Amino acid sequence: MYKILANEPLVPNIHLIKIEAPAIARKALPGQFAVVRVDEFGERIPLTLADWDGEEGTITVLIMQVGTSTQKLAALNAGDHILNLAGPLGLPSHLDKFGTVVCAGGCYGVGAILPVARALKGLGNKVICIIEARIKNLLYWQEKLQQVSDELIVTTGDGSSGYKGWAYDPLKEMLEKGGKIDRVFAHGCTFMMMLTSEATKPFGVKTLVALNSIMVDGTGMCGCCRVSVGGKTKFTCVDGPEFDGHEVDWELLAARRTIYLEEEIRSLTHWECQRWYKPIVKVVEV
Ligand code: FES
Repeated sequence: MYKILANEPLVPNIHLIKIEAPAIARKALPGQFAVVRVDEFGERIPLTLADWDGEEGTITVLIMQVGTSTQKLAALNAGDHILNLAGPLGLPSHLDKFGTVVCAGGCYGVGAILPVARALKGLGNKVICIIEARIKNLLYWQEKLQQVSDELIVTTGDGSSGYKGWAYDPLKEMLEKGGKIDRVFAHGCTFMMMLTSEATKPFGVKTLVALNSIMVDGTGMCGCCRVSVGGKTKFTCVDGPEFDGHEVDWELLAARRTIYLEEEIRSLTHWECQRWYKPIVKVVEV
C-alpha cells in the first residue's frame, strides 16, 4: 500500500498527487513513469513522473480525470492509500547538450515536461518551454517552468492569456523565421504531440514525444502498449515512452487508445452510480 501525502486540484480536472514511494523516488529519471492500480478492482494505468524527491522518498504525478481510475485517484485524500505502484518504468528521456531545446507541454503534459526541462537546463542547453491550454483558467505551473527555462511561452486556444493558438504555433513561427532549434520534446495528448511533430517535420528538427498508449504490465510482457514507429513494432513501456514523433504511426496509436472506450464509459457510469446513488438508496431504505 502506498500512502497519498497530498492531493491538490491544480486547475479544473487536473490534480497533483504526491505519493510516498521511496524506492521509486531514489531511482527516478526524467521521462520515466509509474504504473498505478488504485484498488483491487482497478485497471493499471501509467502516469508520468512529474517530480520526485529521493531524500524525502516521494513522487509526484499529475492526473487528468478522464476514466474510473483517475476519478478514483482524484477522490482520495492525504492519508489514504493506493494498492499497487510499480516504477520507475520506461527508458529515461534521451538528454544531452543539444543547444537550443523547446519543451512543449499541454494538459497533464505540462507537468511531465518539468523534469525534462530542468535536466536539459542543467546540461547547459538554452531551454524554451511552451505550454498550451484551451483557456487561461487551465494554465498551471508557469512559475515552476520559468525557473527551469530561459524563456516561457504561454499559449491559449481562445487567446485569454499569452499567444492565441496552440503550442506548435509559436514553435512553427520560430522555425519559419529561421530560428535555430536543435531538439523538441513534446508531452501532452496524442493530438498535441502529433501536431507538434507535423509542425517540425518540414524543418527537420528532431522531435521526441512521450507516447501515452494503454498499458497493462508496463514491463514488455502483454503487448498492450504496442505502437508502430518507423514501420517497426515497438512497446511503449520498454522501448519508450519517448519516440521520434516524425516516425510514429499516429493513426494506429489514436485507434488503439480508444479500443476500450465503450467499456471505459460503462465502468465510469457504474462507478459514478455506486458513488452517488448508494448513499441515497441507503437513506431511503432507512
Ligand atoms: Fe504490456 Fe507494454 S504494457 S507490453
